[in-house]
Amino acid sequence: MRSSVGLRLSWTALLCIVALFIGLLQPAASVKEHDFKKCDQSGFCKRNRAYADTAASTSSWAAPYNIVPSSVTFKDGQLNAIILKTIDASGATVRLPITVSFLSSGSTRVTIDEERRQQKDIELRHDSKARKERYNEAEKYTIVGGLELDKTSTVASQDDKEIRIVYGPDSKLEAAINFAPFEVDFRRDGNSHINFNDRGLLNFEHWRAKREKEEPKEGEEAKPEVSETGEDESTWWDETFGGNTDSKPRGPESIALDISFLGYEHVYGIPEHTGPLSLKQTRGGDGNFDEPYRMYNSDVFEYILDSPMTLYGSIPFMQAHRKGSSVGVFWLNAAETWVDITKGKAAKNPLNVGTTGKTNTQTHWISESGILDVFVFMGPTPKDVTTSYVNLTGRSAIPQEFAIGYHQCRWNYISDGDVKDVDRKFDKFKIPYDVIWLDLEYLDDRKFFTWEPHSFTDPVGMGQQLLDHGRNLVVLIDPHIKKLEGYSAYDQLTSKNLAVRDKEDNIYEGWCWPGAAHWVDCFNPKAVEWWKSLFKYDTFKGTLSNTFIWNDMNEPSVFNGPETTMPKDNLHHDNWEHRDVHNLNGMTFHNATFEGMKSRKKGELRRPFVLTRSFYAGSQRLGAMWTGDNQADWDHLAASIPMVLNQGVAGFPFAGADVGGFFGNPDKDLLTRWYQTGIFYPFFRGHAHIDSRRREPYLLGAPYTDIITAALRLRYALLPSFYTAFFQANRDGSPIVRPMFWTHPSEESGFAIDDQLFVGSTGILAKPVVGKDTFSVNIWIPDDEVYYDYSTYNVMATQRGKSVSVAAPLEHIPMLMRGGHIFPRRDIPRRSSAAMRFDDYTLVVSVSKSGTAEGELYADDGDSFEHENGQYIYRRFNLSGKTLQSVDADGRDAKSVKPGKWMSAMKDVHVDKIIIVGAPSDWDTKEAEITSEGRTWKVRVAYQPAEKGRAAYATVGRVGAAIGADWTITIA
Ligand code: NOJ
Repeated sequence: MRSSVGLRLSWTALLCIVALFIGLLQPAASVKEHDFKKCDQSGFCKRNRAYADTAASTSSWAAPYNIVPSSVTFKDGQLNAIILKTIDASGATVRLPITVSFLSSGSTRVTIDEERRQQKDIELRHDSKARKERYNEAEKYTIVGGLELDKTSTVASQDDKEIRIVYGPDSKLEAAINFAPFEVDFRRDGNSHINFNDRGLLNFEHWRAKREKEEPKEGEEAKPEVSETGEDESTWWDETFGGNTDSKPRGPESIALDISFLGYEHVYGIPEHTGPLSLKQTRGGDGNFDEPYRMYNSDVFEYILDSPMTLYGSIPFMQAHRKGSSVGVFWLNAAETWVDITKGKAAKNPLNVGTTGKTNTQTHWISESGILDVFVFMGPTPKDVTTSYVNLTGRSAIPQEFAIGYHQCRWNYISDGDVKDVDRKFDKFKIPYDVIWLDLEYLDDRKFFTWEPHSFTDPVGMGQQLLDHGRNLVVLIDPHIKKLEGYSAYDQLTSKNLAVRDKEDNIYEGWCWPGAAHWVDCFNPKAVEWWKSLFKYDTFKGTLSNTFIWNDMNEPSVFNGPETTMPKDNLHHDNWEHRDVHNLNGMTFHNATFEGMKSRKKGELRRPFVLTRSFYAGSQRLGAMWTGDNQADWDHLAASIPMVLNQGVAGFPFAGADVGGFFGNPDKDLLTRWYQTGIFYPFFRGHAHIDSRRREPYLLGAPYTDIITAALRLRYALLPSFYTAFFQANRDGSPIVRPMFWTHPSEESGFAIDDQLFVGSTGILAKPVVGKDTFSVNIWIPDDEVYYDYSTYNVMATQRGKSVSVAAPLEHIPMLMRGGHIFPRRDIPRRSSAAMRFDDYTLVVSVSKSGTAEGELYADDGDSFEHENGQYIYRRFNLSGKTLQSVDADGRDAKSVKPGKWMSAMKDVHVDKIIIVGAPSDWDTKEAEITSEGRTWKVRVAYQPAEKGRAAYATVGRVGAAIGADWTITIA
C-alpha cells in the first residue's frame, strides 16, 4: 500500500484528511498496470521471448550451445564440462562451465556459469563498484541441506555425442546429456519426464564491451541499435522505465532455459500470483494469458485477479503433474524472472512407451542476471516432489501455538486504550482470538522501535492486560529507517554503514512511510547483528514476552523507486547489485527479525512469530506470509483459496489472506463468508485499510456476530488438527491445506480443482462459500470412499469424480468427513488457544467403507524448542474391527523420554470423548472397555442407529485415558 504521505501526521489529523478525501475516492479500483513492466518493457524478457520466437520459426534452428566432449569428467556423483557458446558466424565461442550434481536424495542440480565473468575478466561501465561475477550466492540464503552427492551414481554410457548417468534410489533415474546441442533428458524407469533445452532456448548473454557508436550527424536519422552480430542491443546498456534509468554497468547478462515436462498437462507453483492453481498458458489464445508469469517482488497497489503479474513474494519452484506422476524443478535465481508456459500435444517418443500423458507442458525460464542453477525432482508423487524441495530449502517451522489461532488486526488500533477495549469486547461477546495487531500508527513519527507518545502512553499496561488474558500483541516493523538525526536507529544505521548503497556507493535514500528513509542491508552479517540487538526487551522498551513482529514493505517497497522498489544498480553487502538479489531481499530482512526475536533476552529461547509480506524459497523456515492488499469483494475472497493452496504446494504453507479484504468495506454477508473461509487459512487474520470502517466481529450484530463466532469456535475446536498439520508440514513439507491433485494424484478430473481443500490428513473436505447469494455448493468427490456431512453425519450420495450438492445457508460451512480418518478436537469454547492448552480432547472417527480409520495428533508446549529434545506427544490412532488404539507414532517407548514441565502437565490431559461416525450396527452396545497404563476400566457408549440418511454413530463418553499414553478401547 502506498501513499504520498511522507510527513508526520498525528492520528486525528490523518483521520480528518482521510475523511476529506473519502468522498473523492473511487471505490477500490485496480492496479495501475503501467506502473509495472510488461515483458516487452523489460529488455531481457523481450529479448528472450524474441529469441524463442526465432527458434520456433526457424526450421533449421541450431541451438548454439555444445558441450566439448573431451572436457567431460565424472567423479563422485558430479559431472563437469565446458559448454561452448558460438557467438558469431566466424565460429568465435565463449566458455560456460557446467556442473551436474547427482544428489543422494535423488534430486539433480545443474549449474552453468560464464568463465570470463567467473575470472572477473570484464570491465564495468560508469566506474561502478559492483561485483564482476555473476551472482552465485542465492544458495547461501536458500539451501539448508540435501546437497550430499550420490557417490553411487555411475556412467551408464559415454561417447562423443552423449553421456548417460544412472542415479538415485534403486538406480531408477537416468540423465542423458546430449553434447551438440546441449540437452538433458531426465528419465525415470526408462521414461523421459523432464527435458532441458529441447526447444533450444538456452541463452546465456555473455559479457561484451560496449562499442561506442558515432552520434548521428545533423539531419541524419539515428541508426538502429544493432550489435555486431545483428542483435537488438537497444536494451543492453541502460534501460528507462517510468522515468528511472537503470545504468546496467555490466551490460546484458540474462540467462534463459526451456524446460519441458513430457506428458504433463498441469503445472503448479511459482507463487505469488493471482489466478488458478493449475497455471495457465502465457502465450495468448483463448482463456490464456499473453504475458509470462513474472517474479519480481513488488508492492503492487490494488492488485488485479487472474493475472500473471508479479506480487510481493516469489518461489521459483514448479511442480508438474499427470495421472500417477509428479516431477518438479527449482530455479534458484534471485533476480527478476519470467516464466512462459505453453502446452502442446505430446509427440510420440519411443522412450515414453507406457506413459499416459497426451500433453507436454513447455516452460521457458528467463532471469535477468546470475548463474543458471536448477534443481530437478523426479517424484513420483506430489509429496515426494515437495519433500525433495523442502529437504533443500528447509521445512516450515513449527509455529508458536497461538499463531494458528485467530489474529485481529486493522490499520489501525489508535491507542493502548483502544486495544484494551477491543480485547475486552472479544471477551464480552465470548469470541475467541489470540492476537491483536498494531499497524503503522502506533509509532512515534514513523520511527520503528518507538511508541506514539500521546496515544500509546502505556504499552506495558496494554501488553500486560493481553498477557493476563493469554493473548499476544504483534507490532509492525518495516525495513526503512527514517532519515532523522537524533533517531537512534538512523544514527546507528548510518554511522555503522549498514544501509543499502546507491550506484555511486553513497547511502541510498528513498521515500517511504516516514518520508526520506534508508534501508537496512540484511545481506550484511553485521547489519543482521545490529538489527537483532534492536529487539532486546531493554532496547525496544514497551515490549513484553507476548510481543511479536510483523515485517511489511520488505520487497522492498520504495514509493519513489522504479516499480515502487529499489533501483537495480543499488549496491548491497560485498558489492552485489540489487538486481542480483532483489527477490531474496525480503527474506533476508525476515530472517534478521526472526533472529532478533530469538535473542531478545539471554537464556530465553522461544519460537519467534514473524509475519512477512515478501518472501522467497526458504522463507517457510521463518514464519508466516499473507497475500497483501486484497480487496473487500467476492472475487478476492474466491481468489484467496488457490493462492493459499499454491503456497502449500510451493513449500510455504503458513499462508493466509486478509479476512474481510484490505481495501473497502465488506457487507455483512461477505464478511461472514470470509470468516467461514478464513478458518481454513493456515494463517488466519482479519485486517483492514485505514480508510475502512471498523469491522470487529462483535460489531456486526445478529445473526452475523453469532455466525462468525461459531466459525471462529470451529477453528479453535480444530486447533489440535491444524497443529498436527503444521507438524506434518515441518516433517516432510506436506501442505497444511491440501489441493485435490495432491491428495488424489490419480484422479484426473480433480487436477484443476482449486476451490476446495482437505485439512491436513484429517479427511475434512471443505468448500467454503465464496459467492454472493450462494446457498449451496457442489463438492467434487475424489474417490469411492464414504463421505459424511461434518455437522449432520448424513451419508452423502457421492460418486467418485462427480460433485455432490451441499446446502449452505449463511450459517453453514460446507464440510464433509471422508471415511477412514480420525482427527482430534478440543470442544470446550474458550477465549484463546492458551486457555485451551490443557483441555481434554475429543476424537472424531469417520469410519471407512471397510470399517477402518486412522489419524494422528501432534502436540507440544507450543512455545519453546523443547520439542527438539523429545518433549512432544505424537500419537497414531487406529480403528480396526471393534478395537480403537492409540500408539506413539514415532514408536518411542513412554519411558524413553523424561517428561519436562509440559509433558508432566499433559499427564492429566485425557481423551474425553470419542465420536465414531459410521459405527456399524453391531456396535449397538452400552459399554466399551479401556486398557491403558496397566489399568482396565469400562465406559459408557451411546449408540444412535442410522436414520433418514444419517449414519449411525456412537459416542464413547468420559474415556479418561491420558492423551499421551498408549491405550486400547474395545467395543463390547
Ligand atoms: C501495507 C500492508 O500490506 C498493509 O497490510 C498495511 O496495513 C500497510 N502497509 C500499512 O502498514
